[in-house]
Amino acid sequence: MSQTTAELLDEYGQYVVTSYGKPFPDILLVEGDGVFVKDSEGKQYLDFWAGVTVTVLGHGNPRVQQAVRDQMEKLVHCASQSYYTMPPLKLAKALCQIAPISPCKASFHTSGTEANDVALKMAKRFTKRHEIIALQGSYHSWGYHAGVPGTPTAYYAHAAPALGPSVPGMYYAPPAYCYRCPFGLTYPACDIACAKYLESIITHSTSRDVAAFIAEPIQGVGGIVTPPDDYFRRVQSILDKYGILLVLDEVQTRLGMTGKMWAAQTFGVQPAIVTTAKALGNGWPISAVLARSDVADAFEPGDHYSTWGAHPVMCAAANATVDYVLDNRLWENVQRMGQLLLNGLHELESKYEIIGEVRGKGLMIGVEIVEDRTSRAPGKKQAAQIRKLCADRGLIIGSGGWWMNVLRIQPPMTITEEHVMQALTTLEQALEVASKS
Ligand SMILES: Cc1ncc(COP(=O)(O)O)c(C=O)c1O
Repeated sequence: MSQTTAELLDEYGQYVVTSYGKPFPDILLVEGDGVFVKDSEGKQYLDFWAGVTVTVLGHGNPRVQQAVRDQMEKLVHCASQSYYTMPPLKLAKALCQIAPISPCKASFHTSGTEANDVALKMAKRFTKRHEIIALQGSYHSWGYHAGVPGTPTAYYAHAAPALGPSVPGMYYAPPAYCYRCPFGLTYPACDIACAKYLESIITHSTSRDVAAFIAEPIQGVGGIVTPPDDYFRRVQSILDKYGILLVLDEVQTRLGMTGKMWAAQTFGVQPAIVTTAKALGNGWPISAVLARSDVADAFEPGDHYSTWGAHPVMCAAANATVDYVLDNRLWENVQRMGQLLLNGLHELESKYEIIGEVRGKGLMIGVEIVEDRTSRAPGKKQAAQIRKLCADRGLIIGSGGWWMNVLRIQPPMTITEEHVMQALTTLEQALEVASKS
């Protein structure tokens, strides 16, 4: 390369809009192989964020890449929502067989944002109602005008003054964020007051025209906020009483990431609609809406269209991804590696006061960093420092949370014990330094 990395990153600032903020860390990635990525200087990193929880079979999974090559040779594109092609049919059958919904129909799109938009439109069509309830701190889209909320996570809180209010007809319920309970209560003595409060929002905030309640089973961007096991069952019983559809946004929790194929199964609920994206194509852009057949059938021509929807090559990538997960029973590795990681992180929690809480399921794990355990003041600065120290030592992890003080550990589902140990060692080194500074 004729230019230095610093020069290239300068040019990045000059020419490329990074709406999300400055990418982190300050490295320019040029290669990915399995659970590792390499930067322009040849340095290797263990990628425990999987390209923001996307490359869950590892970077460049050979089976997925081959499926893409094979489909490219046959047919790249033929506006798949206007033509019949083979890959979407194969993918719909495969996903409907494993979906937590039966009978089920699938539709395919390009992003999580679009999938959630479609899901909520479907819910409105089916119920003939118009209002939506979501959880505070959720992240379903950044489609500001798409009718799906950009919700009050750290990012929205930052952007809200400039972008203005969310769309009309949206209501936000308090999440089951037990570490910072919105009611100041403690589980299980609280009797899941946050779920009960949903009923009060339905009856006293909305105009009783609620089509759907949309939620991430575990809030990802919001800081791996993990509800108690019985939270969603309680929510579902309230929704059923009012004929409101449960829409689960499984953009981050799908395909085994929480230790079962879907988080709907982890939490024991039967949603009317599930959306998924990110990992579905292991890096190739595709998303899906899986809906109960009667709900899907309420959708009418003209309700949605996207040129790239159900793209044959992306569907081929997703078909290979789903096959790979099933053939290798990856959710079992997730359970084992997740437990190992959680055990290790709980040990670190007992040593380092700046860890407020370790939480999550499977390989969707959050470490909430605080200034101290008494005040629980969000340790935003420390979290950023830990991420930087980890990156310097060759480990990439994510961050999120209402105050960007939660380390997000969402590695590929293919990791081994050796990778877990390497990550824990690096994290401990970073925590040691951050605790003293
Ligand atoms: C839970 C969840 N839903 C939806 C989205 C939006 O997906 P996309 O960025 O593909 O539009 C995200 C993105 O991070 C997400 O985490």
